[in-house]
Amino acid sequence: ASTKLWGGRFTGKVDPLMTVYNESIHYDKRMHTADTLGSTAYAKALHHRGIINAHECAEIIRGLALVEQEWLSGTFVIASDGTDEDIHTANERRLGELIGREIAGKLHTGRSRNDQVATDMRIWLRAALDEIEGALVELVKAHVGRAEMEMDVLMPGYTHLQRAQPIRWSHWVMGQASYFASDLERLRQVRKRVNQCPLGCGALAGNPFEVDREFLAKELGFEGVIGNSMVGVADRDFVVETMMWGGLLMGHISRWAEDLIIYSTQEFGFVKLADAYSTGSSLMPQKKNPDSLELLRGKSGRVFGQMAGFMYTLKGLPSTYNKDLQEDKEPLFDCTRTLLDSIQIATGVLSTLAINPEKMRGALTMDMLATDLADYLVRKGVPFRETHHVSGAAVRMAEDLHLNGIDELGLERLKGLRGEFEEDVAMVFDFETSVERRAAIGGTARKCVLAQIEEVKKVIG
Ligand code: ARG
Repeated sequence: ASTKLWGGRFTGKVDPLMTVYNESIHYDKRMHTADTLGSTAYAKALHHRGIINAHECAEIIRGLALVEQEWLSGTFVIASDGTDEDIHTANERRLGELIGREIAGKLHTGRSRNDQVATDMRIWLRAALDEIEGALVELVKAHVGRAEMEMDVLMPGYTHLQRAQPIRWSHWVMGQASYFASDLERLRQVRKRVNQCPLGCGALAGNPFEVDREFLAKELGFEGVIGNSMVGVADRDFVVETMMWGGLLMGHISRWAEDLIIYSTQEFGFVKLADAYSTGSSLMPQKKNPDSLELLRGKSGRVFGQMAGFMYTLKGLPSTYNKDLQEDKEPLFDCTRTLLDSIQIATGVLSTLAINPEKMRGALTMDMLATDLADYLVRKGVPFRETHHVSGAAVRMAEDLHLNGIDELGLERLKGLRGEFEEDVAMVFDFETSVERRAAIGGTARKCVLAQIEEVKKVIG
């Protein structure tokens, strides 16, 4: 007779490829801790209902600790005949060997791998999200640290990748930090929905032994109990939501990386990547390539793809458990790994990046103060639509006269364009003044960037 869990009803041989095709042990074994935790709690719940006695309960708990110990020490041996289909099967088989099948065989009473796997996934993912959260906090901290230290550095801000207005480098840094801080807040919301307990849902219809599901939830650190057993075994929204969240985060990282790739070109030269995050060319000796940033940009595609792929798997599934659901694991595991690595690489890149404040400042040109010149006239009572024309004419005139910039036009020529110009117009032609004028909430003035830093600090705690 077959030693498979469901062997009783099956007599025919299984296609060897089917065994391989069906198994998930080689990737779901990483959930061994979650699985033994879930089983330990379940044994206690069975004992509370008198399904197993105190001795049996103690034996199961002792056995599960031994199983977990084998996993931790790397001595757990997965059956070579393919019968250890998944982590649940493997752990139960081993438990039986360690404490005897007589007692071990009682553990699965009223439980199904359907509620078991959903429970394991949520416990595993919760821990993975906590690790990711910790890494994300570090990424945000790295931004805050730079923004505070490099507050005085000015650079061009761009729209359409064309030089637009002067900004503080710190303003760019905090802009990026605010995306990541929002990602942190979203992650904490996702975690709440991941952290709901499906154990005690049975195969689909519920548990016939009235196990105390609230006890199970509490014992396993869940924040609540899933209120419909059919949903408990079938719901993988927590997997999708995690990958959606990851997709959004990777989108932010990708745009962040793109800016830094541009800023690190010879043409810009605003930033220089540390050697630790660059690579050379096998052909061109002079090259230093921003591979870290390119991989960060590239891996966003991988995460979006995993999310989309699994959503296709879910779409159209009948209610409750279907084996298609086993396809949740590889994308989720790969996604969480990619997210953690990417966040850590991004933190490394940012904290070792050298900036070149002279280059940044050197890229500021007087035409970037054309808006400020228009604003000057607004303060003298001229309607903005009018001042926009006047300032544009000033830029053109400076060009026609082959001057270096509008600051060289002089008061007389400006007065010729518009009578409201006075001596104090000289004050306009200063990048610091321009930046400090942007002092409404969210602007690039020092006090506003400091306020952004305070806001973000609240989120990282
Ligand atoms: N390895 C399976 C999975 O990942 C566990 C659940 C199997 N349940 C079943 N009824 N075949 O989904």
